[in-house]
Amino acid sequence: MKPILKWAGGKARLAPQISTVFGQTCEGTYYEPFLGAAAVYLYRKARGEVGRAVLSDINEKLVEVHRAVRDDADGVIAALDRLPDSDWRERYYDIRDDYNRGPWRSPLHAARFIWLNRAGFNGLYRENRKGEFNVPVGRYTHLAIPSPEHIREVGRLLQGAELVSGSFAEVIGRAGEGDQVYCDPPYVPLSASASFTGYHSSPFGLAEQKSLAHHARVAGMRGARVVLSNHDLPVVRNEIYPEISGFEHVARPRVARAISRNAGSREAVAEVIAAIGPAA
Ligand SMILES: C[S@@+](CC[C@H](N)C(=O)[O-])C[C@H]1O[C@@H](n2cnc3c(N)ncnc32)[C@H](O)[C@@H]1O
Repeated sequence: MKPILKWAGGKARLAPQISTVFGQTCEGTYYEPFLGAAAVYLYRKARGEVGRAVLSDINEKLVEVHRAVRDDADGVIAALDRLPDSDWRERYYDIRDDYNRGPWRSPLHAARFIWLNRAGFNGLYRENRKGEFNVPVGRYTHLAIPSPEHIREVGRLLQGAELVSGSFAEVIGRAGEGDQVYCDPPYVPLSASASFTGYHSSPFGLAEQKSLAHHARVAGMRGARVVLSNHDLPVVRNEIYPEISGFEHVARPRVARAISRNAGSREAVAEVIAAIGPAA
């Protein structure tokens, strides 16, 4: 089941491989602290690989979208139906202003977020220093809004999931024996000039990457299986997830980027999937 949202760094294409790295159904609680559009959770949940789940992201407005879809998919569908269709391009900046005025918790919020995600440039989510969403209108010929069936199905897969907004440490700290954790943090930039992450106003630098690796190691010692993905760079393999600290580098897939900074350029980028903690 594909996500409703397009999300920078979304893992819809890598989900089968990530699921293979977990190797088995999650008997305990499945944690996903960098949820984004929830591609990996939705893939695994639809296949019956996950039962109890705690899903979180630092972007509160994004988490509210997942909550609204879980709790009132029909309300989200009805609110989406009232947003512009044929004149979407002309109305884009009005809807963006409405979104920035709030409320940021309701089916209407979720509908505006989904609409802007589909109508805005490259599906990016970016806010200015005042916390206002400031992505310009996209260059699409048609507006592709997810269908009511798609929204209902994602809502069904989210039933029973605990949705939390906050930083990764709070959630990983809860994982222990029999649990599984998938961590998909903002990428370590391929070059210094590519440091834009575009998810949220808070930066995710090397210190945060290393802190995440530390939390993953500690959760692994408590008996959780933790799988992490990032760019396949020497700093990632040797400094952030070094084998000497117990990380396995399980796979190194090359993925064509779905969202690129330069519209139209979709290069194949090497990734690394690392894991720590008991596999079975
Ligand atoms: C690469 S994206 C995840 C994409 C997701 N796997 C998917 O398939 O859609 C990284 C996510 O981490 C979130 N994030 C950034 N900093 C964070 C932090 N300190 N704690 C938790 N989430 C964070 C961003 O809001 C973003 O949604």
